[in-house]
Amino acid sequence: MPETAGVAGRTVLIAGATSTSGLAATRALLAAGADVVAVGRDDARLAPLRALGARTHVCDLGDEDAVAALVDTLHRDDSGGDGTRIDGLLHLVGGWRGGGGLAGQTDADYRALETGLTALRHVSRALWGDFVASPAARTAIVSSSAVARPLAGGANYAAVKAAEEAWARAMAQGFEKAGREAGEPPHAASVIFRVRALASLEDALAAAFTGLWDAEASVVNDTVVALGDA
Ligand SMILES: NC(=O)c1ccc[n+]([C@@H]2O[C@H](COP(=O)([O-])OP(=O)(O)OC[C@H]3O[C@@H](n4cnc5c(N)ncnc54)[C@H](OP(=O)(O)O)[C@@H]3O)[C@@H](O)[C@H]2O)c1
Repeated sequence: MPETAGVAGRTVLIAGATSTSGLAATRALLAAGADVVAVGRDDARLAPLRALGARTHVCDLGDEDAVAALVDTLHRDDSGGDGTRIDGLLHLVGGWRGGGGLAGQTDADYRALETGLTALRHVSRALWGDFVASPAARTAIVSSSAVARPLAGGANYAAVKAAEEAWARAMAQGFEKAGREAGEPPHAASVIFRVRALASLEDALAAAFTGLWDAEASVVNDTVVALGDA
């Protein structure tokens, strides 16, 4: 399948899939002909995604060993012939905590937010080989306008989102380097979506993520895409 042949036939993992945005992305990807592997911590919350047609897995993505076991399970899954390989990642583990001004930025809030970065590090490292080997891989994180305009009451949040963006940009450089070393144009891309608030943007995010497979990797790799009023 050519690199820009769309998302149909690709297998996409949604990390932290049980939110409204996870449901919207699952619907859009399945409607476009992709396979979806939806991951969360709670099987009951994954049930609606299963009902839509996604494969679901319970995994604490903040646990490095659990992520390695998940990827091992996917690679051993023989239902597709020679094991499941992942062509895409939509990283949704995150959430928001804050308030109380700069002095009110608690360690407890920081640690809770930092799970999003830790999960991104774990999942992207464990699936790196899949992405580089894929004929067309696309990965995306959902960051925040707070990175460009940090507020005192959201300092923990902005700091973690800035770190996630740095990681996503490092992935982009890794994809570009892998293509260069293979002597071919890159066929994987890492993208940052920025939103101010996700509410009412879930379908726009889903469409923008699904559409990443309609553009060449070199065009979308290492880009920041603002959605809504971000
Ligand atoms: N909401 C906004 O307005 C907004 C604004 C800017 C950026 N964002 C970012 O957009 C992304 C999605 O936001 P959202 O509001 O949809 O997030 P959310 O409602 O907080 O959902 C987070 C998801 O991550 C899962 N999760 C949390 N910890 C996990 C872990 N350790 N292992 C596996 N799964 C875990 C949760 O699943 P379970 O609880 O079922 O396990 C849930 O599905 C986040 O990165 C967020 O920071 C959101």
